[in-house]
Parts: sequence; C-alpha cells; structure tokens
Amino acid sequence: MICRSYFTRSSNALASPCKSRNQFRLFFAKNPANHAHFQESYLALSIIYARSENHCIGDQGLLPWNLPDEFASFNNITDGKAIIMGRRSYEDHNCVLPNRLNIVVSRQVDYLLPAPMILSADLITALQIAADYSSEYFIIGGVKLILEGLSQASRVVETIVHAEVKGDTFLPPMDFSHYTSEIIEHHQVDEHHASAFTVWQHTRA
Ligand SMILES: NC(=O)c1ccc[n+]([C@@H]2O[C@H](COP(=O)([O-])OP(=O)(O)OC[C@H]3O[C@@H](n4cnc5c(N)ncnc54)[C@H](OP(=O)(O)O)[C@@H]3O)[C@@H](O)[C@H]2O)c1
Repeated sequence: MICRSYFTRSSNALASPCKSRNQFRLFFAKNPANHAHFQESYLALSIIYARSENHCIGDQGLLPWNLPDEFASFNNITDGKAIIMGRRSYEDHNCVLPNRLNIVVSRQVDYLLPAPMILSADLITALQIAADYSSEYFIIGGVKLILEGLSQASRVVETIVHAEVKGDTFLPPMDFSHYTSEIIEHHQVDEHHASAFTVWQHTRA
C-alpha cells in the first residue's frame, strides 16, 4: 500500500509520520555502518533506456527516433511498475504513462503535475516511494538519474538503436563487464522502423 505522506515535496522523509518499512531504509542510508543493508534494499531497482550507436538518448527534449515497437517493448517491461524520471524526460511525453506509478524528480518545489503523478525532490525519496508501490521499479531517464542510480541497480535494460543520430543528450559509454548480458529482443528495419534495434538485459553478476 502506498503511504500518502510520502507524496509530499519534502526530501526529508524522516519528518514524515509514515511508519512504513522505508523509514528503515532511510535509517540505513543515514548510517554508513549499515550500508550493506541499504544496498540490499535496492536490489529491485532496474534502469531502462534506449541509446543510439553514438550514445545519444535525446534531442531537444524528445527522443531522436520514432520506433513504435521499441516503445511497445518499454511499455511491456515497465507495465504495472513504478517508474522514476527526471523533469525534462517527463516533459518529453508530458502525460501520465498509464498503469504505472509515475514519479517525477525535480528540485522545483512548485512544479505542477497532473494527478496521480508524484513529484519527488530527490532520487532517494523517489526510490522509497517506488519500493512501496511495486517489487521492481525503474529509473527511465535522463542522464543524471541513470548515472546516479546505476550503482544501486540490479539490472539495466539497454536498447541499442542501430543508427548514428544527431542530438543534444548523451550517455557516457557504460562498462557492463561485471554484469551478465543477454539479448532479449532484436528488431529489424521495416516500414514502421527506420532503424533496427537490439534490447540487451545486463544483470548484475
Ligand atoms: N532514450 C531514452 O531512453 C530516454 C529516456 C528518457 C529521456 N530521454 C530523453 O532525454 C532528454 C531528457 O534527459 P535529461 O538528462 O536532459 O534530463 P532529465 O534527467 O530527464 O531531467 C533533468 C531534470 O530532472 C531533475 N533532476 C535530475 N536529477 C535530479 C536529482 N538527483 N535531484 C533532483 N532533481 C533532479 C532536475 O529538474 P529541475 O530542473 O526541475 O530541478 C533536472 O533539471 C529528453 O530529450 C528525453 O526525450 C531519452
């Protein structure tokens, strides 16, 4: 069950009257001696993104491609789960992605979101809210949140769009040598898809 008191814009979750298990997570986060427990509590975090061959993920606030089946794959994987996104990524689609708990991270305390979206002032609060909603939850972009969440994530679902594209938002090359990697989908060019794409799943070994 979702604890409403986490739906505030405060980043100080300890001030919340909520007596959920997430308070213990925050306790671990604030006590370095319990760091191992803290790490364990985030094993359900996954990261999902798509990037081009030249590591581009966005252009002028939008995706730099139109690949309906890639979006369908994203929808299937995240269906029913909590998803966490940066404010600019939210503005890309500018609506609630259905059948998911949509959490937007922004430092703007007055940023307006349509219900039932949730505004979070930082990633750690967003992770706590997400963990109360679904056993697995996703960071879906953009760059800072992906990089901030990477060390806590148990898997990364990475779509490689087989094209060099122009854009303004890039992820640095990632080292997945310490993960077990497998292809879970490959899509060829067709009349609706100008580029082929491959979906990789990297699971922490
Ligand atoms: N290819 C993909 O898989 C994919 C996925 C997602 C997005 N995209 C694309 O990527 C672009 C957007 O990504 P982006 O990296 O530029 O921006 P972003 O991460 O979506 O949004 C950046 C904003 O999020 C907030 N934010 C991020 N980290 C935060 C933190 N730790 N604490 C508090 N607030 C935080 C800040 O909002 P405030 O400025 O409001 O404080 C920041 O300015 C778009 O073009 C989008 O289409 C692509």
